[in-house]
Amino acid sequence: MHALKVDVNVSIGAACVNPVLSHYLYMEVLSALRLQLEWGVDEILLAEAQNRNIARPEPEPEPEPEPAPLAPPPLATKPAPRRAALLPIGPQDAVEIADACNSLEELRVALQNFTGCALRDTATQLVFADGVDDARVVLIGEAPGAEEDRAGKPFIGPAGQLLDKMLASIGLDRTKVRIINTVPWRPPGNRAPTDNEIAVCLPFLRRHIALVKPECLVLLGAVAAKAMLPPQTGNAGIGRLRGKWYDIEIAGLAQPVSSLATYHPAYLLRMPTAKRDSWHDLLALRHWLESQALMF
Ligand code: URA
Repeated sequence: MHALKVDVNVSIGAACVNPVLSHYLYMEVLSALRLQLEWGVDEILLAEAQNRNIARPEPEPEPEPEPAPLAPPPLATKPAPRRAALLPIGPQDAVEIADACNSLEELRVALQNFTGCALRDTATQLVFADGVDDARVVLIGEAPGAEEDRAGKPFIGPAGQLLDKMLASIGLDRTKVRIINTVPWRPPGNRAPTDNEIAVCLPFLRRHIALVKPECLVLLGAVAAKAMLPPQTGNAGIGRLRGKWYDIEIAGLAQPVSSLATYHPAYLLRMPTAKRDSWHDLLALRHWLESQALMF
């Protein structure tokens, strides 16, 4: 979440006092707001506008520190636990934390408490999943957007509405599938998640899949495909990856999971001509589900 920094109240107040200035100030405030929106400001954090032209009072001088008491000699030298040592939490810690979860609820709570991904600091809340816990089909998107961030539910904005229509066209809906994202927190300003953010969240995504035990994954877009496929495959663009099936090994599952890559619905909104390929992918998914007697 990025803070809004324009001193709107101050400027608007001045405009009311001096009507000659009003049009000029109005345009100035408007263009400042536009600029900040372009830079990714999407939330107002402060209840009160801040006038940064007023000098701040000098901070109180720091009190003299008390002389430190003589430290007792150490009794035994025990290495501090890793977490208490404020070492950065990385993908290996994420693997340990995620693999220790034996239910989806445990995984949700573990993610809620996970501090290894800075996205959580700017997001409003965790966006864990939607759909059913024992789904045969798991769809993986990229990252929550503004609406998902507010509601705590994936794919509820325009891309989500298109996804619902796509699912309905092959007889599926959210009571039959599970929907998750590559990263479960909204990146600020809807930017793409970085490779590091994806890497640190990936153990949770893979554990999520292991706990649901689906027969099939649908990789929605380049970010999900790159995260889930081995680098020699996943680095190809989504245009090359889509429409093909991949076997993805998931720790804890006896069989590799059959996975179909396709376009992300947000891409289809921007590029309607890609809907034709996307429709072929949906038909391929439906045929595969029928062939596995998984159509309900
Ligand atoms: N796009 C995604 O990839 N995920 C969402 O939850 C919403 C939009």
